[in-house]
Amino acid sequence: MYINILGRQPEIGIAELESLYGAEALTPLPPYACLINSEQIDFDRLGGSQKLAKVLTTLPTNDWHSITRYISGALPGYIQNMPEGKVKFGLSVYGVNISPSKINASALQLKKVIKSSKRGVRVVPNKETHLSTAQVLHNGLTSSVGIELLIIKSGKRTIIARTTHVQDINAYAHRDQNRPMRDTKVGMLPPKLAQIIINLANPEPNSIVLDPFCGTGVMLQESLLMGFSAAGSDLDERMVEYSAKNIQWLNQKVNFTGTLSIIEQADATNHIWQSTPDRAASETYLGRPLSSEPDSQTLSKIMNDCDTIHTKFLKNIAKQTSLGFRMCLAVPAWKTRQGFKHLKTLDSLEKLGYNRLKFVHAEDKDLIYHRKGQFVGRELVILERK
Ligand SMILES: C[S@@+](CC[C@H](N)C(=O)[O-])C[C@H]1O[C@@H](n2cnc3c(N)ncnc32)[C@H](O)[C@@H]1O
Repeated sequence: MYINILGRQPEIGIAELESLYGAEALTPLPPYACLINSEQIDFDRLGGSQKLAKVLTTLPTNDWHSITRYISGALPGYIQNMPEGKVKFGLSVYGVNISPSKINASALQLKKVIKSSKRGVRVVPNKETHLSTAQVLHNGLTSSVGIELLIIKSGKRTIIARTTHVQDINAYAHRDQNRPMRDTKVGMLPPKLAQIIINLANPEPNSIVLDPFCGTGVMLQESLLMGFSAAGSDLDERMVEYSAKNIQWLNQKVNFTGTLSIIEQADATNHIWQSTPDRAASETYLGRPLSSEPDSQTLSKIMNDCDTIHTKFLKNIAKQTSLGFRMCLAVPAWKTRQGFKHLKTLDSLEKLGYNRLKFVHAEDKDLIYHRKGQFVGRELVILERK
């Protein structure tokens, strides 16, 4: 049994896991974690999970003293097969009511237990109840001499787990910020979100994943890194050039197993793609960038423009794909003072020939990727051709 610590928008992380592993395999522990009953988890492809841990035990209590007493007894066993060298130790607590200073005090007690096993040890101090991904990564807590124990509340019980993987924030930053061709106007799709979109489209191995609004090619990049074939098109010739240059850069920097099929200039509302895609995964046209809420007339115009492009695109690709074709689109949702306004096209999906897929463990309304202060969010919509 594994447990994932979810990202900033936990429901999106849960939907991603449900798409890959199925609803029955999951037991969400809102708002921070999700248990997964699976033999293997391919953690590197998950954009919506921060940590992956192996469950060690479940205790029938939330009492801090009882929890630390248990860990104290089990700790020598956890570290006994570690190679020589100074042990690096950390504690992360989720949901159990305890302050960082009390966690630090308990960590020092546990340090003594490790020392009494004749091992040198360094404890990573808690500024908050849990260690950040950066702290876990930079202190080597998932290395062969590292150990981060997760203490996670699950109702009246407490799960003790050991972190095996943590999101590689350095690798994400590298492929986000060091790409040669970037365009702030087109928007910066975070690689993590691109991974989530691809996982929600859930391609089979060797699938061709199409991004018909490919912009600077983040989705193509992430599809290739996951080992899929990637095809991209964009209305703007400049974007086609940017995508090609970025993929060329990726090719020089990283080994990946996916193959680039094509990047071409094309209008997604009427183009006929040469090879039929198996899946589409795309951050579509989000309308012109807006930093704050415009007047209602301007917003109406933007929403109508987006509606026209999306309706035409969905009609066009429906003609070229068959029953069961699946895609995940990140479409605009506008955060007004009255709440989110949705793309009108979403009201006519049935008529356009699609079913919108629902999740058991996440609701549609929670699948809007949004940062504080942003006016345009991205609503994640998973569609299947009927
Ligand atoms: C939000 S960006 C996509 C960004 C992209 N996901 C990336 O990783 O950089 C939207 C893109 O849609 C393109 N676009 C707008 N209308 C289009 C159309 N009718 N057909 C194809 N592309 C279009 C724009 O040129 C822009 O590059």
